[in-house]
Amino acid sequence: MESYDLVIIGAGPGGYVCAIRAAQLGLETALVEKRSALGGTCLNVGCIPSKALLESSELYATAHHSFADHGIVADGLALDLPRMMARKDGIVKELVDGVAMLMKKNKVAVHTGRGVLTAPGRVTVQAGDREEVLAAKAVCLAMGSKAVELPFAPFDGERIVSSTEALSFAEVPGSLVVIGAGAVGLELGSLWSRLGAKVTVVELLPAIASFADKQMSSSLERALAAQGLEFHLESKVTEIESLKNGAKVSFEDKDGKSQEIECDKVLVAVGRMPNTLGCGIEDMGIELDEQRRIKVDEHFCTNVEGVYAIGDLTRGPMLAHKAEDEGIALAELRAGKAGHVNYGTIPNVIYTEPELAMVGRTEAELKEAGVPFSAGRFMFRVNGRAKGLGLLDGMVKILSHKETDEILGVHMVGPRVSELIAEAVVAMEFKASAEDLARTCHAHPTLSEVVREAALAVDKRAIHS
Ligand code: NAI
Repeated sequence: MESYDLVIIGAGPGGYVCAIRAAQLGLETALVEKRSALGGTCLNVGCIPSKALLESSELYATAHHSFADHGIVADGLALDLPRMMARKDGIVKELVDGVAMLMKKNKVAVHTGRGVLTAPGRVTVQAGDREEVLAAKAVCLAMGSKAVELPFAPFDGERIVSSTEALSFAEVPGSLVVIGAGAVGLELGSLWSRLGAKVTVVELLPAIASFADKQMSSSLERALAAQGLEFHLESKVTEIESLKNGAKVSFEDKDGKSQEIECDKVLVAVGRMPNTLGCGIEDMGIELDEQRRIKVDEHFCTNVEGVYAIGDLTRGPMLAHKAEDEGIALAELRAGKAGHVNYGTIPNVIYTEPELAMVGRTEAELKEAGVPFSAGRFMFRVNGRAKGLGLLDGMVKILSHKETDEILGVHMVGPRVSELIAEAVVAMEFKASAEDLARTCHAHPTLSEVVREAALAVDKRAIHS
């Protein structure tokens, strides 16, 4: 029987990053993955393919709607969807192969098959009718999550689909109903809308991207509506009927009126649930919480000695970078180091155009907690670089403690804010004040000047407003 210091089940960003860090620190490490490709949902059917398609579709939309403003004539513009998909598949393959190479380089033993925890310190790898048992001093569960189905409308892979199928449609649907205005719904809704689909989004709550600061979600909603996405908020889907060539979605709108929409495809994007079935979790008596997430303490320990869990399986945001950070921290703790994740500075991004990015607490959360704060806001539309890019929607808002000026939350809607948010994360990690940001030199002309102006605006001294 092969024996390891650490056996990790699941090769998504949580699992494979944990494996690399553990190997770097000298732990004998094995990674068990049921897919033939490493990288999990993120690399294969999530973050990476969606960002590739979002970029392609944004270029297509820009060529259609903005080239003329730039004085560029592009007659005969056409969409080659198979080529766009092939580019996306190529990017996925390169990254997936890159992870396999990293495993080799770091001498992580990769076992392909379903990993099942069969006893304390034992993981059985099942591949077809073959079984192999691995001995482990510690086991890390990192099996991730899967898309939630609506109980009355299960996925059929054709008309009622999850994000996985919506990343590989063979043709642009004439009409697409998206259920759920979270990251998946807004990104994939934008993608197909840019390529020509009529997209209608039905959301249960009163706001899109409901985790975000209210001012930001309203700003994003306005921008996406102007691009042609139709939103029905506070609306409850009651039935989805499969038709010969599509589906009919029935919902109750915010005034309690029944509405129906016929469409070619329905994307159900109402959240994800942890993959806790079929891996021995229940047989081993590993405790779950009321949302079927594995209960862990601050060191990722489950209630069973020697068994740890990270990423989407556990509490906290279901984000690849959160899983990665937990994987690194767990490996460091197992190697006797001080691994740690600061959950207060995990950024959250939606890759629409404009993008939405945030870190820390929202105005509503600070008000509810009774924390006194000041807010500084600055719009992209007066920024020289934003004008040059022709991307004027959105703003940056910085919330800092009224007495200490420590930055408590940074909220952005605008161009490239997925990149700009890193400055805010670093500032918060170092417990910077708004004054610290305001006194930091920012290159001109850049979008980052909007961050500095928002920091100056906390003290009502923005220069360009
Ligand atoms: P989500 O939980 O972010 O959003 C789901 C939305 O569906 C919510 O607004 C919810 O109110 C709504 N909803 C729930 N039931 C509904 C119903 N019956 N009818 C209408 N609306 C309903 O989930 P999503 O977008 O599926 O994403 C899953 C996870 O993946 C999230 O944790 C998300 O953060 C993560 N993700 C992150 C991305 C990123 O970082 N850019 C991209 C895609 C996903």
